[in-house]
Amino acid sequence: MRIVYLNGDYVPKSAAKVSVFDRGLLFSDAVYEVISVINGHLIDMERHVTRLERSLGELSITAFADWPAIARTLVAENGLQEGLVYLQVSRGVMDDRDYRWPAPDTPPTIFAFAQQRVLVENPMAATGMRVLTRPDLRWQRCDIKTTQLLYASLMKMEAVAAGVDDVWMTRDDLVTEGTSQNAHIISRDGVLISHQLDRAILPGVTRIETLDQAKALGLSVEERAFSVDEAKDAAEAFISSSTLLVMPVVEIDGHKIGDGKPGEYTRKIRQSYLAAVQRASCTTA
Ligand code: PDD
Repeated sequence: MRIVYLNGDYVPKSAAKVSVFDRGLLFSDAVYEVISVINGHLIDMERHVTRLERSLGELSITAFADWPAIARTLVAENGLQEGLVYLQVSRGVMDDRDYRWPAPDTPPTIFAFAQQRVLVENPMAATGMRVLTRPDLRWQRCDIKTTQLLYASLMKMEAVAAGVDDVWMTRDDLVTEGTSQNAHIISRDGVLISHQLDRAILPGVTRIETLDQAKALGLSVEERAFSVDEAKDAAEAFISSSTLLVMPVVEIDGHKIGDGKPGEYTRKIRQSYLAAVQRASCTTA
């Protein structure tokens, strides 16, 4: 039986109910985290907690819980070896629909669940992803991990309808990020270019370790926005996220990147990323 967490209790999925007056439902007034699980260990939990607390702070939502303990309990209760833990915090339940926030002592709604998913042996690592570019029409605080994911979801469906894997979104012809991943390229002269951390992108947890591993492999890293043309002309392109880890991108708008196969640096970064997070989770679990 699948066990989920809701407001302090671990209950069967069918028993977890949230009010229709929850701010998360009515206003997307909620933030979330997705944490990967490999060999039964949570990956980079501390960084997820840091980002969650920042997102909560930016929206003035007050919520305290032992986040790692919730995630660990869900992994154990559901016997999860590989997959994800999803954790969401909303501003809580209102008496009636109202743009104004409820009283500050309103308890937040906190829920979490675990989900199986193949991460390490994802066959896409061998083939790479194909992406389209589309204008980034999301709001201008993409650094906060809110549950306002409708535009990202619309873009994902455009990708699916076009028979490709994802969309890289652009502002003024500069790539911001994928629908749910950070975007990176490696130029022909061996420089890894990744959008700077600002309000246009989510500060990815996977991105941090990815850039560290790239530096350890001898690549220099430039944190700046890159154009669609620069991406098409790059030697390699790839994404990072908790769900796909490090994943090559082999085609942008039908244009092949490099020789159209996953790049050699990308393969190495994925390998060393996996080795690093598995080493770290063994020592901290
Ligand atoms: N998304 N950018 C966006 C817009 C994202 O939604 C995500 C993650 C990332 C990568 O962040 P991280 O490395 O911390 O996973 C970048 C999660 C996985 C999701 O919505 O499912």
